[in-house]
Amino acid sequence: MSAHITVANTSVDMPVKEGTIGPSVIDIGKLYGQTGMFTYDPGFTSTASCESKITYIDGDEGILLYRGYPIEQLAEHCDFLETCYLLLYGELPTAAQKTDFDYRITRHTMVHEQMMRFFQGFRRDAHPMAVLTASVGALSAFYHDSTDISDPTQRMIASMRMIAKIPTLAAMAYKYSIGQPFVYPMNSLDYTSNFLRMCFAVPCEEYKVNPIVARALDRIFILHADHEQNASTSTVRLAGSSGANPFACIAAGVACLWGPAHGGANEAALKMLQEIGSVDRIPEYIKRAKDKNDPFRLMGFGHRVYKNYDPRAKIMQKTTHEVLGELGIKDDPLLDVAMELERIALSDDYFVEKKLYPNIDFYSGITLKAMGFPTSMFTVLFALARTVGWIAQWKEMIEDPSQRIGRPRQLYIGERKRDYIAVNQR
Ligand code: SDX
Repeated sequence: MSAHITVANTSVDMPVKEGTIGPSVIDIGKLYGQTGMFTYDPGFTSTASCESKITYIDGDEGILLYRGYPIEQLAEHCDFLETCYLLLYGELPTAAQKTDFDYRITRHTMVHEQMMRFFQGFRRDAHPMAVLTASVGALSAFYHDSTDISDPTQRMIASMRMIAKIPTLAAMAYKYSIGQPFVYPMNSLDYTSNFLRMCFAVPCEEYKVNPIVARALDRIFILHADHEQNASTSTVRLAGSSGANPFACIAAGVACLWGPAHGGANEAALKMLQEIGSVDRIPEYIKRAKDKNDPFRLMGFGHRVYKNYDPRAKIMQKTTHEVLGELGIKDDPLLDVAMELERIALSDDYFVEKKLYPNIDFYSGITLKAMGFPTSMFTVLFALARTVGWIAQWKEMIEDPSQRIGRPRQLYIGERKRDYIAVNQR
C-alpha cells in the first residue's frame, strides 16, 4: 500500500508500513528529496520516530503491553527484575535465567567509593533530581570499560550497571538531602527491599523491610518501567543516536523526565492536592483548570496518548488503598480530595469532551508519601523505574542496523539574508 501525496505541481507515492498491531505509518523518508518540502509536527502528535518491539499502547482502549504482555498481568504476577529481563531480552525469564539475572544485577549495586565525594559538592537542599541527573552522568567518568557502545558485551555490562546502580544513587540523593549517612546495598535483599533499606535504614538500629510496602513499591516500579516513545525515552534515543555513552544518554532522560508535564507531574499532582486541601475547594480548582486564561492544569490528569483511563492509574489507585490500609492510614485527606476530584472531573463535560482521565501520576504521590518519601523524591522514583525502559529502548536503537543520527529540520520563519551594520550606524 502507498500514500499518494500531491503538493504544488509534484505528485509522489510514499510507502505505507504496517506494524503487528496499531496505526500504520507513511514512510516519508524520501519526501524532501522528491518535493523539497519537510513535514511539520512540532509536538510529534502524528509522528512515529522509530520501529520498536518493546511496548505497545492503545490510547483509546487504555491498553499497555510490555513485549505483548498486558501491564495488569505483569503487575499481578511479576516482580520488577523479572519485568526488567522481559523488557531487555523480549521474553519472560526461565527460573534459571531469573536467578542468574537477579545475581548479576545484585552484584553491580555498589557505586565507586569516590562517588561519595562527588555528592559532597551539592548543597544539602539541592533537589534530588538535580543530584540524580548529575550523578548518573558522572557514572561515565568511572566506567570506561563499558562505554564502547559498538561492543555488545560492553553494552550489556553498561545496561546491568545502570539498572543496578540507579537505586543506590537514588537512595544516596535522598540520604544526602536529609543529612543522614549513606547506606550500602545489602546483597541478601531483593532489589526493591534493598532500595527501601538504603533509603530508610540508619546505623543506630536494625531496619526491617515491610513486605507489603516492598511488594507495592516493586509493583509501582513495574507500572513505570517503560511507555513507548514518551518525551524522556525519545530524549534517550536522540542522545544515543550520536553514539554518546549510555550513562550520558540516561542522564539526558532523567533531565527530561523532571519536567512537570512529564515525570515531574507526580510531585506537582501531590502539591496540587495539598494546595486544594479539602473537598469543598475542588470546584474552584476545576473552574481554574477549565479557564483558558489560567495556566493552572489538573496535574495527574490528561495524556498525549491515553484518551481513556490510563491502565496504570487503575492499578495505582488499588495499590494506594492497599498501602494506606497496611500502614493503618484510615482517612488520608489527600486521598479524599483525590477521589472526589476524580469523581467530579470524570463527570464534567470539559474533561469528558477533551478525554482527560487520571494518569499514572495522579495517585502515585499519595502512595509514595504514605511510604515515607518526601515529595521531592517522587520523580526520582519514577526515574529509577524508567531506567530499564530507557536502557531497553537505547539498546534496541543501537542494535538497529538502519540506525542513523537523529537530526530533525525546521520551518524557518526568521529574517531573510541581510548585511552587517556598524555599531555607530545602528
Ligand atoms: C507522563 O508520554 C507519556 O507516555 C508520558 C508518561 C510516561 O509514562 O512516560 O505517561 C508519563 O508524563 C504522564 C503525564 C503527566 N503530566 C501531567 O499530568 C501534567 C498535566 N497534563 C497535561 O499537561 C497534558 O495533559 C499532557 C502534557 C499530559 C498532554 O498534553 P498534550 O497531549 O499536548 O495535550 P494538550 O496540552 O494539547 O491538551 C489538550 C487539551 C487542551 O485544551 P485545548 O487547548 O484543546 O482547549 O486538553 C487540555 C488543554 O488545555 N488539558 C488540560 C489538562 N491536560 C490537557 N486541562 C486541564 N487540566 C489538564 N491536566
